[in-house]
Amino acid sequence: MHDISQYQDFFINYLEKQSISKEPKNLYAPIEYILGLGGKRMRPVLTLMTSEVFDTDYKVALPAAMAVEVFHNFSLVHDDIMDDAPLRRGQETVHEKWNLNTGILSGDAMLILAYQYFEQYEPIVFRDLAKLFSKTALEVCEGQQWDVDFEKRSDVTIPEYLKMIEYKTAVLVAAAMKMGAIVAKTTEKEADLIYDFGLNLGLAFQLQDDFLDAFGDPETFGKQVGGDIIENKKTYLYLKAREFSSAEKTSELEELFNLQLENNTAKIETAKAIFNESGASSATQEAIEMYTFKAFDTLEKMNINAEKKNILRTFGENLMGRKV
Ligand code: IPE
Ligand code: IPE
Ligand code: MG
Ligand code: MG
Ligand code: MG
Repeated sequence: MHDISQYQDFFINYLEKQSISKEPKNLYAPIEYILGLGGKRMRPVLTLMTSEVFDTDYKVALPAAMAVEVFHNFSLVHDDIMDDAPLRRGQETVHEKWNLNTGILSGDAMLILAYQYFEQYEPIVFRDLAKLFSKTALEVCEGQQWDVDFEKRSDVTIPEYLKMIEYKTAVLVAAAMKMGAIVAKTTEKEADLIYDFGLNLGLAFQLQDDFLDAFGDPETFGKQVGGDIIENKKTYLYLKAREFSSAEKTSELEELFNLQLENNTAKIETAKAIFNESGASSATQEAIEMYTFKAFDTLEKMNINAEKKNILRTFGENLMGRKV
């Protein structure tokens, strides 16, 4: 096994060797742009790491890791269109830098490129990867649709929210890990357990994404702070604030999250104050820990040695401390 920064380096070296740029330039340049902007590379790192957890050289997992990262970046290009987001990883989003149609088509091409990476595997592994990937990709679309539908609703429940983030975010984290297990040809039981670990880690990850969207440092966060508030997203912060607040505060919050404004400074400040005063911010932090610990419980059921369990646990602990 290697450490996380080594897996990141292995992945980035592989990524840089790919020749993505072709004609027409306006289709491929945005793909190179978004993939080159960096990001944490969490999902490909998890794929490489998982293959080694199951005693298979990370190199075998590189094409699968690439497929996952290309898919993730595709979903971000389209997500930024849907969320009307100006910034990604501290730079202009693809649809802002080019235009809407470019964002749509380059995104589509990335989805296909992602699938092509599976062609590097033998038929049985190819089938298992493609099957998991198709299921996951469709779930991500379902989650994204719920996320958008919820913008217009004020009666979203916590179970509905949890299903939404499971689909839009957690299933891809889970699948990234299970792909490492598939290329390592481990048992179905272990592959399902690592999927479950990834799923709970992914739920914690999205809860924290929601938290950082409101409370991240604009200097380092890389996305527009308050973007979810501007877009009336029904995040865990919002839902818990509604649950914990007086009738009066709740209707203030609901009215706030019906607005579509030109200038959002006051809306963001008011929403953040309600999140903090109501206890929603602390409840979100507690939920992040709860899902991370739930992931750790799954590790105990796995048939891998203590050192490997420790590496996975450390990964989860580090994620809880992230600021971007
Ligand atoms: C952003 O994912 C989208 C979510 C599912 C929250 P990341 O936070 O992993 O984005 P990058 O790849 O590191 O930029
Ligand atoms: C992202 O959710 C989920 C997918 C991209 C599928 P968000 O909309 O919260 O992600 P960010 O915050 O823009 O990265
Ligand atoms: Mg978004
Ligand atoms: Mg979104
Ligand atoms: Mg977000």
